[in-house]
Amino acid sequence: MKILETKYMGLRLKNPIIVGSCGLTASVEGLKRIAQSGAAAVVLKSIFEEEIIKEHEDTLKKKLGYQDNNLEFLDYFDYQLKNDVLKKTATLVEEAKKEIDIPIIGSLNCASSGEWISYAKNLEKAGVDALELNVFKLPFDIDQKPEEQEKLYLSIIDKVKENISIPVCIKIAPYSSNLAAMIKKLDDSGVNAITMFNRFYNVDFDIMTDEVKAGGTYSSDQDYYNTLRWISIMSGKVNCDLSASTGIHSAETAIKMIMAGATTVQVVSKLYKDGLGSIAGMLKNIELWMDKRGYLSIDEFRGSVHHEPKENSEKFERVQFMKYFSGHNPDQVI
Ligand SMILES: Cc1cc2nc3c(=O)[nH]c(=O)nc-3n(C[C@H](O)[C@H](O)[C@H](O)COP(=O)(O)O)c2cc1C
Repeated sequence: MKILETKYMGLRLKNPIIVGSCGLTASVEGLKRIAQSGAAAVVLKSIFEEEIIKEHEDTLKKKLGYQDNNLEFLDYFDYQLKNDVLKKTATLVEEAKKEIDIPIIGSLNCASSGEWISYAKNLEKAGVDALELNVFKLPFDIDQKPEEQEKLYLSIIDKVKENISIPVCIKIAPYSSNLAAMIKKLDDSGVNAITMFNRFYNVDFDIMTDEVKAGGTYSSDQDYYNTLRWISIMSGKVNCDLSASTGIHSAETAIKMIMAGATTVQVVSKLYKDGLGSIAGMLKNIELWMDKRGYLSIDEFRGSVHHEPKENSEKFERVQFMKYFSGHNPDQVI
């Protein structure tokens, strides 16, 4: 009997597999199926404040004609709409709580910094067990100083942590001018966990029509390397839990993330591609591997391969192929 139990942000999970935030986690039916699949916890589909406002303004414009000057009128409906969305989420959490016994983690992305607190408080009140802050904004402003992004993250964490008492996780992007230092600062802010990394809407071109279109939505099973590198580099340097996300499609990759020091792994694309049954397969294969390696519990191998020994750190820090390629015969590649 293997012990897969894992403590994440103080929550007791029956194993380290979490279903990450996505469309599959947006309904009671979806949450029930996820709980039945064997996943240990679930992150709800994010509430996107910006999307709510935009959708609402578009509807109003269509319905009533554009009332450009009537900002108060729009404010009233913004308020109304926000309340509707929060009520819907509260009902979702309330109903899901009756049906499933795994922790439910709320997820939030706000456009205006003031709104983080009110949405976070409402999610806590609705009964979520923890909250994941999905804070990323693409830093495309050439006048923005690198530290501004960091300051924004830290101020949001501060405000949210001050106002709620459930554990708080921050989900970050791999884009930062000094990722290691930023992750350390996030850890110092007292956040309970960091999810590394979010995957974003990709942009692509159609070369026949000049159209800008959506790129691939899902990750592949090869997309985990960057997460593995950064979990390995940071796991010995932070106090908070690290949750690995992106490219986790198999037991093998989940095991690697835990060996690197991740507390939990989040799975999304694999479930869209191959269904929720993949979770049972992953759990079974983790146990089989533990058997082969003689591990009795997940805790025994968490962090077993990480950045610290010199021979490892040289490999994790290598970014160019230099030496690697010079040892390879190009004829063999062809
Ligand atoms: C269809 C879809 C919807 C998603 N929606 C959200 C979301 O609402 N909030 C969020 O934080 N991440 C969202 N994500 C990102 C996932 O939670 C996850 O971080 C990302 O897909 C990388 O994991 P994967 O490689 O297992 O897919 C979404 C991903 C997909 C594919």
